[in-house]
Amino acid sequence: MKKIFAVAATLMVAVTLSQAAHAADFSKQIKARKAVMQIYAFNVGQLAAMVKGKMPYDAAAASAAANNLLAAATMKNAAMWPKGSDASAPGLDGKTRAKAENWTQYPKAAEAGKALVAAATKMAGAAGNGVDAIKANFGAVGASCKGCHKPFRAPKK
Ligand code: HEC
Repeated sequence: MKKIFAVAATLMVAVTLSQAAHAADFSKQIKARKAVMQIYAFNVGQLAAMVKGKMPYDAAAASAAANNLLAAATMKNAAMWPKGSDASAPGLDGKTRAKAENWTQYPKAAEAGKALVAAATKMAGAAGNGVDAIKANFGAVGASCKGCHKPFRAPKK
């Protein structure tokens, strides 16, 4: 009997260790996709600062920010989103806020990404034409971020 418990305990340790190793396997992918999100946020922030008058409008800088956003949004990033790297996976709670729905409702998640590309394309075409042109396209960009975060990103803990 004692021996059976010992074996069971050993198995449990082995399972825990393999789960920990599994979580670590995705750390690079999670880091990379968060970095892409930070690039989105930085460039949207530049445009927002110009709209709010916190940064003087500059056509070249505005175009650069919008084109950076578009470039990041059109990057082929499937490798950064491996199946099983969601917050409900063993060991990943607190390490990622990506919901399992990113994979279980995959076509919907991809559409949310396409909405950002569409909004960023318009912004890239407009940002060099003045603050009002940024303003006119800003809502759609923000809505595309929210349109994905609401269903596909878990709330902050
Ligand atoms: C197609 C879905 C999708 C779109 C579009 C999207 N996001 Fe995200 N975003 C996510 C998910 C999912 C996470 C959580 C990633 C993780 O924790 O692994 C996230 C995380 C973030 C984070 C936190 C990154 C970190 O360091 O933890 C920021 C900031 C962010 N997004 C900004 C934006 C902005 C700004 C936009 C729009 C310009 C945007 N996102 C558009 C899905 C999206």
